[in-house]
Amino acid sequence: MLKGLGAGAAVLGAGSMLRAGTADGGDSPAESEIGFRDGVYVLPPLPYAYDALEPYIDEQTMRLHHDIHHAGYVRGANRALEKLRSIATGDGDRPYSKHWARELAFHGSGHAMHVLFWNCMTHDGGGVARGDLAKAIRLSFGSFEGFTELFRAVSGSVEGSGWGILGYESLSGGLIVIQAEKHQDLTVQGTYPLLAVDVWEHAYYLKYQNKRADYVKAFMNVINWDYVGARYAAARMG
Ligand SMILES: [Fe+2]
Repeated sequence: MLKGLGAGAAVLGAGSMLRAGTADGGDSPAESEIGFRDGVYVLPPLPYAYDALEPYIDEQTMRLHHDIHHAGYVRGANRALEKLRSIATGDGDRPYSKHWARELAFHGSGHAMHVLFWNCMTHDGGGVARGDLAKAIRLSFGSFEGFTELFRAVSGSVEGSGWGILGYESLSGGLIVIQAEKHQDLTVQGTYPLLAVDVWEHAYYLKYQNKRADYVKAFMNVINWDYVGARYAAARMG
């Protein structure tokens, strides 16, 4: 079941970016999916141990990535949110509204994407999509192999830092593969992200150095397709 994660999500763009689904169909989001609580963004724990994704993603990278990089986006999002709220109440510095809105787009999207990213992976992942998601992938991309080829190509070719994303495009009701530069640029508005791979260098450089394509190939072995399928089911319900 999906849960909204708070009022702040409404200003992050891409509609329901912050919503999360549970693969087991439970009523409550897992602790690892909760990115907003009591009026502020929070850093949720990983849904597994730091070394759970070895040998595909190494423990040191996971520790730095989650504890330092993701935590930084949470702090940045809260600061921006606080500044924007103060402008709304007349206490803030209105000439800087553009700056803080851009800060919220960057840090808030960074936070949302990392929450999604951690939950898209599992130690016994990989393989192929199942059920309705598998049918949708075949309908949109011809075959699962075709999707894999496209996802790896699009993710591997992001200019600079960003993400490869499989998303549910709400106007067509179909699936699309898109890029995000940084965390928030190149979004197709209204697209609900189902699966995302982080292709910022901080996500892979310790283990893979400049070989981003090898990292994206390895990522395919840790995808939690049950989780991605649950997000697809929720996206279709609107
Ligand atoms: Fe990252």
